[in-house]
Amino acid sequence: MADLWQEAMDHAVAVARKAGEIVRHAVHNDMKVLCKSSSVDLVTKTDQKVEQLIIDSVKEKFPKHGFIGEESVAAGEPCVLSDNPTWIVDPVDGTTNFVHGYPFVAVCIGFAVNKTLEFGVVYSCIEDKMYTARRGKGAFCNGDPLQVSDQKEINQSIIATEFGSNRDPEVVDVIFSNMRKILCLPVHGIRGAGSAAINMCMVASGCVEAYYEIGIHCWDIAAAAVIVEEAGGVLMDFEGGPMDLMSRRIIAANNKTIAERIVNEIKAYPAIRDDAP
Ligand code: IPD
Repeated sequence: MADLWQEAMDHAVAVARKAGEIVRHAVHNDMKVLCKSSSVDLVTKTDQKVEQLIIDSVKEKFPKHGFIGEESVAAGEPCVLSDNPTWIVDPVDGTTNFVHGYPFVAVCIGFAVNKTLEFGVVYSCIEDKMYTARRGKGAFCNGDPLQVSDQKEINQSIIATEFGSNRDPEVVDVIFSNMRKILCLPVHGIRGAGSAAINMCMVASGCVEAYYEIGIHCWDIAAAAVIVEEAGGVLMDFEGGPMDLMSRRIIAANNKTIAERIVNEIKAYPAIRDDAP
């Protein structure tokens, strides 16, 4: 049977590559940095321009589809996932990296139908790595299949996480206390690429066993969520249930054993849901 969404996925790959070229050429040149929720939550003209390019090109080809885009939501568009085919777009995941020329920056395009993620495209554009996954058909990087690590021992693992952009001292205390617990298990190391999507693609690639974070948004993780699952990994909420895309928190791991171990070690702090009215 023909794959109903293959054409949409092909379009996502093409537009992510085009967007990534723009982002790659703008590194070091786009000096106009603006702030969003705080002085460390950054946005540039490139984020806005690239999101518009993606949305315009998708609208032309799939006029009935919906969108959730990081910059559109920042400009006041609603962030609600309906049953309608919906493109979930982060034009520049790793904006702080982009601003500083730190080479982990990704264009992310996730696609959901009936609230189920069908495919994900993460283009790590400075590394020129195109990560793709279609539900039920595997995950790939530049065409090569991805497979998560088979490690079941957390003390033989690398765990990725981030500091995020919330500098409320109480929140920072929880972040450090969680990292301390994980580090002292002990694990082999803690890493953070500065891009939620690239951290998740590292899990899918098998070089990091798990990634967790509170404070991310649905557009940071939607595309990479399919890539992790299709590479054999699991997505979990901080309570141990299934990942909730709108909840602003995620554990992405190579297997349930590692994910549950992280659930048992770390504490959550409140974050306003993406779909809060
Ligand atoms: C951010 C990055 C970062 C993570 C933040 C995200 P953005 O996305 O993924 O690694 O720590 O929580 O908001 O703002 O660069 O698209």
